[in-house]
Amino acid sequence: SIKKSFMAVLAGSALLLAACGGGGGDTKSGESKDGQKSGDKKVLNVGTEATFIPFEFMEKGEVTGFDVDLLNAVAEEAGYEVKIENTGWDAMLAGLQGGQIDIGMAGITMTDERKKTYDFSKPYFESIGMIAFKEGADIKSAEDIKGKKIGVQNGTTGQFNAEEVVGENSPDISKYESAALMFQALQSDNVDVVVTDKAVAEAYKKKYPDSNIQTITDDKAFAIEHYGIAFQKGSELKAEFDQALDTILDNGKYAEIYKKWFDGAEPDIEALRK
Ligand code: ARG
Repeated sequence: SIKKSFMAVLAGSALLLAACGGGGGDTKSGESKDGQKSGDKKVLNVGTEATFIPFEFMEKGEVTGFDVDLLNAVAEEAGYEVKIENTGWDAMLAGLQGGQIDIGMAGITMTDERKKTYDFSKPYFESIGMIAFKEGADIKSAEDIKGKKIGVQNGTTGQFNAEEVVGENSPDISKYESAALMFQALQSDNVDVVVTDKAVAEAYKKKYPDSNIQTITDDKAFAIEHYGIAFQKGSELKAEFDQALDTILDNGKYAEIYKKWFDGAEPDIEALRK
C-alpha cells in the first residue's frame, strides 16, 4: 500500500540519517564535519537494493556483486572511497533526493522520468526486460502475461513493462519491495510470472535449476535499457565518475569485472559507448 511504502521510506531515511550523521557535502578534500574521512579520501554514502543477483546481493553480511566491484573500481580511479549500504530501493531513491545518499548503485535503468530527478553516469550495462515463469505457464511473448498473475519489483522498469502490456491499474500486478520478495512470490506460486531484468532472471534460473524456471524476452514489447550510476541532481561527482568509468572501460578493468560475474563472457564495450 501507499502508506506502507511511505513508512518504509521514512524508516529507511531515518536509519540513513542516523548512520550518516546527516550526510556530507560534495567536497573532495574530505573536510566533512562528521569525520567521514579515510586517509585523504572522501567517503561517499552509497545506497542499493541488495537482492538483485548478480549485480548486488548480500554474502556473509556484505554487499557484493558486479555493481559493487565496478563502483569500487570507478571510485578508486576517481579518488573516492565508497560505503555501500543495503538501504532498499525506495530509501535509496529517497535518500538521493534528500541528500543523505551520494550515490545510488542498483542496476538502475536510466529512464527519462528518472533523469528529471537524478543525474546519471554514462551507461555501464545494457539490459532488456525479461519474463520468468515456471515450466508449463506457456509464455511465448509479452502478450501472454495477460490474464496471468504478475509479480514485479515496485517502482522498477519491470513494473512499467508489465503495465505497458496489461494496463497501469491492472489488479493482476502484485508489487514487491525487493527483487527477492518478487522471486519468492514466483517460487511459492503466488504469481505466475515475474517481469524483471534479463541478467537477473537468467541468474535466478541458473541458481535454482530444480525449480524449472523458464525465461523469455520480447524485443518488440520491451525496450533496451541502460544502467547508470545515480547521483544527486547537479552533483559534481558525475563528471569525475564518467571520466573514471571511461578509464576503466579502456584499461581492461571493466572487462575483468564483467568476466568475473558473467561466466567469463567478453563485454561489448563498443555497444556501451554508442
Ligand atoms: N533496472 C530496473 C530499474 O531500474 C530494476 C532495478 C532493480 N534493482 C535492484 N537492485 N533491485 O527499474
